[in-house]
Amino acid sequence: MRKLAAGNWKMNGLTPALDELEALSKSHANAGVGVLVCPPATLIAPAKARISDAIALGGQDCHAEASGAHTGDISAQMLKDAGADYVILGHSERREDHGETDEDVRVKAKTALAAGLTVIICVGETLEERDAANTLDIIGGQLAGSIPDNVTGHTLVVAYEPIWAIGTGKIPSLNEIGEVHDFIRSRLERRFGAGVGRSTPLLYGGSVKPGNAAEIFGVSNVDGALVGGASLSAADFGPIIDALAES
Ligand code: 13P
Repeated sequence: MRKLAAGNWKMNGLTPALDELEALSKSHANAGVGVLVCPPATLIAPAKARISDAIALGGQDCHAEASGAHTGDISAQMLKDAGADYVILGHSERREDHGETDEDVRVKAKTALAAGLTVIICVGETLEERDAANTLDIIGGQLAGSIPDNVTGHTLVVAYEPIWAIGTGKIPSLNEIGEVHDFIRSRLERRFGAGVGRSTPLLYGGSVKPGNAAEIFGVSNVDGALVGGASLSAADFGPIIDALAES
């Protein structure tokens, strides 16, 4: 099982932020777990030039088509060309801000896989859906609709990010996280077989901080985290990586 500590900088980060990345690449050159940072697309190429291979880079979205007349969009091949090995797809902020559907995410994932990227497919429920006890139905539907058929255990990562936990400082109980992660694992095994199902890293995301990382990483079937705010500084992201390495 690959453990992965992934940072999603979202729409944050100008050139000086590369200092944080460089600090992290020095302090965690031998982290013992996978470390990934997804900065804004403008920083991928300069980041690649400044950091060692110890830290992988990823995009935060890509277009469904390989190239063409789509002003302002970025293609999977462009991300790969700039130095990315991963791309986050179907983040709840993309689903909400840009109306992305499961089918949109699936098509983008196919294009990203064809460009040689590993896809991080995000799923997660709203608070209303959790309160209505619909969480597993929602997650099951998102998994079925968003993940293409041709993934392998090396080209797929799934991130469970309860929407109500993102940027709020709230997290589900450890039992609730475990229930969803066990469910995701069983759905992947059922659809793709035990090999792919068992080797796909499952990340938890939503208000992961240095203070709660260790207990989250102790939950069954949690193989890492997708970290927003706390990934912006090496002083916060470093201890989260360390907690994963010690789990
Ligand atoms: P926060 O860690 O800031 O809650 O963000 C989580 C997230 O959305 C990562 O993709």
